[in-house]
Amino acid sequence: MTTGGVANVHSDMDSTNKTLLKSDALYKYVLDTTVLPREHQCMRDLRLVTDQHKWGFMQSSADEAQLLGMLIKMSGAKNTIEVGVFTGYSLLATALALPEDGKVVAIDPDRECYEVGKPFIEKAGVAHKVDFREGKGLDRLDELLADPANEGSFDFAFVDADKPNYVKYHEQLLKLVKVGGTIIYDNTLWGGTVALPAGTPMSDLDARFSVAIKDLNTRLAADERIDICQLAVADGVTICRRLV
Ligand SMILES: C[S@@+](CC[C@H](N)C(=O)[O-])C[C@H]1O[C@@H](n2cnc3c(N)ncnc32)[C@H](O)[C@@H]1O
Repeated sequence: MTTGGVANVHSDMDSTNKTLLKSDALYKYVLDTTVLPREHQCMRDLRLVTDQHKWGFMQSSADEAQLLGMLIKMSGAKNTIEVGVFTGYSLLATALALPEDGKVVAIDPDRECYEVGKPFIEKAGVAHKVDFREGKGLDRLDELLADPANEGSFDFAFVDADKPNYVKYHEQLLKLVKVGGTIIYDNTLWGGTVALPAGTPMSDLDARFSVAIKDLNTRLAADERIDICQLAVADGVTICRRLV
């Protein structure tokens, strides 16, 4: 896929090479040794089906999904939000990691893509934890914020959509997620473009998203309302913990 005549940085990615690690062999080692042997069968089936989708490069990687599940279990999160579902790979990782009475409000304007993953979520026996809400993230989160009871009621949020608006999601989520809760942003290294010298040729989409992500990274680093940790997992993952 190209925009402005230059290939987008994620064009050639699928679940076997979605990493900024310099060595493909080392990444394969991590996947083969630690990640894929522990991947739930329904997640594996969904991942392989999604790899065949025309937008398959968008799905979260298996190591990132493992990280999300680990963070949810370690923090004891019960009430969670996901913005950007696509076919549901990270959503299924979340639902599997949640306790039996846990919930994930899952937001995406594209119901058709969600329907691809729904049978896998049902087969895994975790559909009762998923509350899919069709629409744009900012709108659906505003709806949640309209009810004061929702303020500080979420333990965990994962944002993987609509990159230019991450800064706005951050303000919404700092109200919805409780003090001590976790907010995770995906793609915070945007294919490595954030560190490229000014003027490096890139597609129009990459140029626009890279600027937005760099702005986000600068703001998050200066935000005293959160603890922050950025990992070079997949396309860059930033973990925030609400402090006040
Ligand atoms: C990178 S994909 C999400 C991948 C997903 N987390 C996974 O593991 O497969 C981005 C998704 O964001 C959705 N999206 C685009 N604009 C959005 C918006 N304004 N609000 C919520 N979701 C949006 C797209 O429809 C797409 O499904």
